Amino acid sequence: MAILVTGGAGYIGSHTVLALLERGEDVVVLDNLSNSSPESLFRVERLTGKKVIFYQGDIQEHHLLDHLFRQHDIHAVIHLAGLKSVRESTEEPLKYYQNNISGSLIVLDRMRHAGVRQFIFSSSATVYGPAEYTPLTESCRVGQTTNPYGTSKLIVEQILAEFARTAPQMAITALRYFNPAGAHESGLIGEDPAGIPNNLLAYLAQVAIGKLAVLPVYGNDYPTSDGTGVRDYIHVMDLAEGHLKALDNLRPGFNVYNLGTGKGYSVLEIIQAFERACGFKIAYQINPRRAGDIAECWSDPTLAAEKLGWQAKRSLEKMVCDAWHWQSKNPQGYGSCAPLVGG
Ligand code: NAD
Ligand code: WQD
Repeated sequence: MAILVTGGAGYIGSHTVLALLERGEDVVVLDNLSNSSPESLFRVERLTGKKVIFYQGDIQEHHLLDHLFRQHDIHAVIHLAGLKSVRESTEEPLKYYQNNISGSLIVLDRMRHAGVRQFIFSSSATVYGPAEYTPLTESCRVGQTTNPYGTSKLIVEQILAEFARTAPQMAITALRYFNPAGAHESGLIGEDPAGIPNNLLAYLAQVAIGKLAVLPVYGNDYPTSDGTGVRDYIHVMDLAEGHLKALDNLRPGFNVYNLGTGKGYSVLEIIQAFERACGFKIAYQINPRRAGDIAECWSDPTLAAEKLGWQAKRSLEKMVCDAWHWQSKNPQGYGSCAPLVGG
């Protein structure tokens, strides 16, 4: 029995594949490498001493999916493949709707055709839009998304809910990630964004290694403790473990869980924590607010604790230390050194 992980070569995917292999699961990865490197999976193999069955291809390729479901005894799909740049989605919305919505539909359709009934979807706290109240619970209003990326996640959630209603044998879980950060403690796998990073921790880490000059802090006039935006940063290995718990607790129907820590930190608090980890000052400057940003966003993770038996274990200190370890060991990400192992 194997688990299909779409997008498994990416940031969250590689950490999730590692966690799955470590507990003895067989894993098949489908990834078109549009935002990742196969090196991440070579390193996962090296860390675990186990093989990943890897297919380079697109989730929109019906025949490839059919081949994969025929060839391997897949009992569950963890669907992480997707485009995730908020900024790019505002410039090319159709690309995001095509890849993230049509792509998800095709995966669902082919897995149903193959008789696979278990599905976990990478959703995002972005579906909540501007918070009605914090901390955010799963019953907060959704639908006020501020960009096409967020809308694509929301629409897929709605499709999954409808599908589950008409196919009661299906067990579908959407995991709403808050702000994934950090890296595996080995420093061998981590986040390797293409181009200029959008996300705070990725940008900060590149300033720390000298690849970027100054961190722009987007606004210090929010109604928060120090005026900068507050988010719920979650260690990527806690997130990976959340997928294992979600898999173990799949129930018929459609269920949604927040994966966050329940704590919010401001941008300045993150910078200070990072400075403690790397041992020197980070250059930053206060810029105007970034369009579409909200003041604060943090989770109430109680439902995941109650229903999945999951909660984040790793501290902010651990998160920034692991992020720094990864970045300093791999200044150019996966492109920085010769491959560690062959395929
Ligand atoms: P990532 O870009 O590192 O990983 C996504 C992977 O999907 C990449 O390896 C990419 O090559 C692959 N991919 C994209 N489109 C594909 C397609 N059509 N066919 C096959 N492979 C394809 O991103 P990530 O941070 O690991 O995010 C994983 C998932 O989690 C995404 O769906 C993302 O939207 C979601 N998510 C991410 C965050 C975050 O901040 N990182 C937060 C919430 C939700
Ligand atoms: C965090 C805080 C910024 C960069 C995004 C997506 C969301 C999800 C996670 C996928 C904010 C501030 C940032 C910088 C800064 N992704 N910041 N300087 O915006 O909470 O969420 O990533 O699903 O959908 O919207 O994350 O890391 O971009 O920002 O000051 O260079 O850091 O203003 O307060 P965000 P982020």
